[in-house]
Amino acid sequence: MPETKLSLYYKNVTAEVLGPEHGISKRQFEELAQKTVPAVAECNKQREKGLIPYRDLPYNENYPKDVKSVARDIKAGCENFVVLGIGGSALGNIALQTALNPYMYNLDTKQRKGPRLFVFDNVDPAQFGSFLDWIGDRLDKTIFNVISKSGRTAETAAQFLVIRQMLLTALGEEGYRRQVVATTDAKSGTMRKIADEAKLRTLVVPDGVGGRFSVLSPVGLLSAAVCGIDIDALLAGARKMDEKVSREDFFANPAALNAAINWHYYGRGKPISVMMPYAYGLKDLSDWFRQLWAESLGKTNDLKGNKVFVGPTPVKALGTTDQHSQVQLYREGPNDKLFTFLQVGEFERDIEIGPQPVVAPELAYLSGQKMSKLLNSEKLATEYALLHDKRPCLTVLFDRVDAFAIGQFIYLYEVATSLAGLLFGIDAYDQPAVELGKEATFALMGHADYAGLAEKIKPVAQVDAGYRV
Ligand code: PA5
Repeated sequence: MPETKLSLYYKNVTAEVLGPEHGISKRQFEELAQKTVPAVAECNKQREKGLIPYRDLPYNENYPKDVKSVARDIKAGCENFVVLGIGGSALGNIALQTALNPYMYNLDTKQRKGPRLFVFDNVDPAQFGSFLDWIGDRLDKTIFNVISKSGRTAETAAQFLVIRQMLLTALGEEGYRRQVVATTDAKSGTMRKIADEAKLRTLVVPDGVGGRFSVLSPVGLLSAAVCGIDIDALLAGARKMDEKVSREDFFANPAALNAAINWHYYGRGKPISVMMPYAYGLKDLSDWFRQLWAESLGKTNDLKGNKVFVGPTPVKALGTTDQHSQVQLYREGPNDKLFTFLQVGEFERDIEIGPQPVVAPELAYLSGQKMSKLLNSEKLATEYALLHDKRPCLTVLFDRVDAFAIGQFIYLYEVATSLAGLLFGIDAYDQPAVELGKEATFALMGHADYAGLAEKIKPVAQVDAGYRV
């Protein structure tokens, strides 16, 4: 298996490049090392005690075996694979697919090694309705993978209930059982109950692994395996990164540096963390990162119960697209952001730019050049322009984009999130603030257990015409 390299480049956050006001000096790096090394040790200790089981997912041999067995079972005759899930049960699947399969995967049979993939992480009836119209007479060639640890998540449950009814009506009990795979808690929860009663095929959401840390479990691995992604390489990449991010040597640990640099800037007027891939395929990794960072680090209380209201704001951008949308703000607006570029050394293919028409000699500089050179030049140009205005920049460099590199990236950011959680002194693994909105939805949808809450919501639900213009 080729061991593609993935590295973090951090020179462009140093005082040497940015000066003392916006750059990190040698002394500050030493202070960051002193603060972060104990966090790495603590994270390693928590792992040994089994408190953060996501860290051992790349070593679990049963999950990939189970996933491959289900993938083999369902692949024959499967033309469409549909994921029903939301948040941590969807974003990893989307990120893997965009990164590791061709752009035209769903449309071009020659470009794909598996069924078409659809991931539904919303309950927009216009979107879902359009899909239902298309899928209606393809149900027997479609596998639905409902992913929900709890099974109570309103969006996933609603989608599932629609699909279940469609399958039962069109294909009967046997067809429903054949076309659904449920990825859920091993023992408890609504989806487990439904799956056991209907004897659905199931895969497990591992115990103690939150959705946003679950992409390297059956949650993210099944759709990847079915769609031809090398899940062994993905997990091998994560294991490779584990060697680096476990190191208690600050300057040799990319997760420690990444977390510490983000933490440093958060406390110095740069609470916004922009991830900007210069590769279309990596764009959904920014979306995955956005959830990981926001849900893990945005917290009211620290571990001692003090009100701290911390949390860096993750922002996703895409190069070069957002050069023509966001860079004006990034350069001339408030200097409140840390930028992380994702850059690719060697693209899996390249395209030569055609000759310029005679009437347009001003385009001669492009003709005969490679598109990858243009893309990477634009990355460098944007970084240069940002540095000119003293904006700190990190780069994660993918020598190539393959499953091994993506596995490294995922593990790097998961551990960086754990370390950032320790630096901020908060619990990176809960998401208490998501609950109230979920419960309010139950109340508004008439759930009997939430009648009291429905009363409290009434004043908000009432539209005051005096304020409507
Ligand atoms: O990261 C998380 O924990 C969340 O985003 C969950 O994945 C999301 O809320 C879906 O939950 P469930 O798997 O129970 O449907």
